Amino acid sequence: MIKSVSDFTDTMTRRSVCGFALLAPLCAKSRKLSAELLPLQFAGPLGIDAAWFDRQAKRQQLRIAQGSAEHIAYYFLQSKSFTSLEPIEPMRAAHAKLPLPQLRADHFLAAKPEGERHRIIRNLYDGLHWPLERCYEHTLSFLRAKEIDQAPLDQLYQSRGLSSDTSPDSLTGLSSIDIPAKRVLLVGPGLDLTRRENFSDDLPLKSYQLESLRARYPLVDAVDIRPEVIAHLGATPHDLTTQILPAQYDLIIATNVFVYLNDAELLCALTGLSLSLPVGGVLIHNDTRFAAKVFGESLQLPVEKYQPLSLGGRKWDRLVIHRKGPQ
Ligand SMILES: C[S@@+](CC[C@H](N)C(=O)[O-])C[C@H]1O[C@@H](n2cnc3c(N)ncnc32)[C@H](O)[C@@H]1O
Repeated sequence: MIKSVSDFTDTMTRRSVCGFALLAPLCAKSRKLSAELLPLQFAGPLGIDAAWFDRQAKRQQLRIAQGSAEHIAYYFLQSKSFTSLEPIEPMRAAHAKLPLPQLRADHFLAAKPEGERHRIIRNLYDGLHWPLERCYEHTLSFLRAKEIDQAPLDQLYQSRGLSSDTSPDSLTGLSSIDIPAKRVLLVGPGLDLTRRENFSDDLPLKSYQLESLRARYPLVDAVDIRPEVIAHLGATPHDLTTQILPAQYDLIIATNVFVYLNDAELLCALTGLSLSLPVGGVLIHNDTRFAAKVFGESLQLPVEKYQPLSLGGRKWDRLVIHRKGPQ
């Protein structure tokens, strides 16, 4: 989406570069990934074949819808932009098993979108064809499973809806990355559209990671699966689990993305990304699962190091750094 003169200039520069087929790599569309490209010793046991890819396309549509439902619920519960009713904290609603707050729902549905955030949420709602009650119930049941029933986090996230959640905390990992690169790919930039906690209508509608990387590297492409992220950031539509990028990068960054993938999806994602890395190219993510190490080795993309990160207080994360080796 072009919102200012400088955005417009950037876009035009990138378009004309594409026209001459020089630098900008993402002029072409993503291609389909297929089972033959995956390491056989894992693809078979994980049940990945042509039919798996057909089912996966449908599964991703459902997960995008579930992610939209979360964004819609967090917004209609907490925004002050369309109502004078007090905001409702999603966790309070989950704990108290509050029925749908009908008056707030009515105000949301009757409001004319004024700001960009409301317009995006309204578009998600109109495209989803789920009643508000279903968005609300879906979101509360996820919160209950996570925070009250304390379901195992890895399983919960691997079947969770795909939302575009991000926050300034997403820069903590990036600031410690000190890898020289000409061509960088950010997978899943996210968009600060809604939050479960500390939501404000004044949050900047942006991807903190994309902005920060573009200030540090000469060429940064972004790919994403969610429609509002693609439209708002001018990212390229791409599903990591079913597609291959038509370009090469020296550095690929994907934080808080792999945790949404089960092992079969992770194998597909690593296979696709490894095809976009030349020898010496680096992939950075934050999923410390053993499978990422084992799959990486079979793709000549071994883990080079695990880099601990302090997120403040007693919270820690870890960057996983893979480097592409010779075939
Ligand atoms: C939780 S957000 C993380 C945003 C940001 N990277 C961060 O660390 O804060 C996950 C992002 O990955 C995108 N995503 C999830 N699954 C994807 C897939 N299969 N292919 C491409 N993008 C995906 C989502 O749409 C979203 O933008």
